[in-house]
Amino acid sequence: MTVATTNVATGDRLRATPTGRALAAEIEQVDLRDVDDARFRDLHAAWLEHLVLLVRGQALSDTDLIAFSRRFGDLDEAPIQESGQRFVDGMPELYIVSNVVENGEPIGSLGNGEAVWHTDMSYVAEPPKASILSALEVPETGGDTSFINMYAVYAALPDPLKQRIAQLRVKHDGTYNSGGFLRQGVRPTDDPRTSPGTLHPLAYTHPETGRIALYLGRRRNAYIDGLPLDESEALLDELWSYVDGDRFGWTHAWRRGDVVLWDNRCTMHRRDAFDPGARRILHRTQIKGESRPA
Ligand code: OGA
Ligand code: MN
Repeated sequence: MTVATTNVATGDRLRATPTGRALAAEIEQVDLRDVDDARFRDLHAAWLEHLVLLVRGQALSDTDLIAFSRRFGDLDEAPIQESGQRFVDGMPELYIVSNVVENGEPIGSLGNGEAVWHTDMSYVAEPPKASILSALEVPETGGDTSFINMYAVYAALPDPLKQRIAQLRVKHDGTYNSGGFLRQGVRPTDDPRTSPGTLHPLAYTHPETGRIALYLGRRRNAYIDGLPLDESEALLDELWSYVDGDRFGWTHAWRRGDVVLWDNRCTMHRRDAFDPGARRILHRTQIKGESRPA
């Protein structure tokens, strides 16, 4: 099925082809270096509708990636890289995902192992509304990235469970990143009650679509505010049992030049491990989110 969205100004049509899975669509015949306002409105509408957009065959410099990202709003500064380095060449918005080591220092974060299901930077009070990844170098195989539709996960919960979580908040842990690496400047801890993090409502009403998504962030060190630890663990395990990538997800096998942007409020993503001898380099931006209900 192809969803055609009319570009009012030019009469061009934006072709968004759904993957046929629970989320994501591929956009064809678009050069992200050259997006006028009408085209941007279509892209934005397609992104809200499909949650994840894939645009292949791009050739974005870092400046191009940042300029395109800014169309969605102000950018957040990237998290501190695992190397302890904060910014990349005077570009504080840029986060590098890579296993490549140069002069004994990793040039980016997340290594070559699995990155577990997560939402980007949900341990801060106002997490980014979107992230955009641009693939510079990717291995022949491995390192696929999966996305999951958290509206669909919420919708799959039985009504009593929806009612149970309606007023609950979960702490999003700021100790470890999705690759399992300790964040810079944080003391290692595995007690979910005392680990640093931020509380967010479990049932999150998306400010632009009005739809409700289950907002889990990460499993490790997550803690449901106000519950005894064993009850929190049991409820989280129950909720996470609905995080089923086969049912609600889509997996992307990267090619160089791919750009993937996702709505970080209603999706989670994870990455498969890949051969440590292979090179994989992706550059990411993250777009500031809105303030959230306390
Ligand atoms: C990210 C991320 C996964 C990947 O950039 O936020 O989780 O595919 N990357 O490396
Ligand atoms: Mn991520």
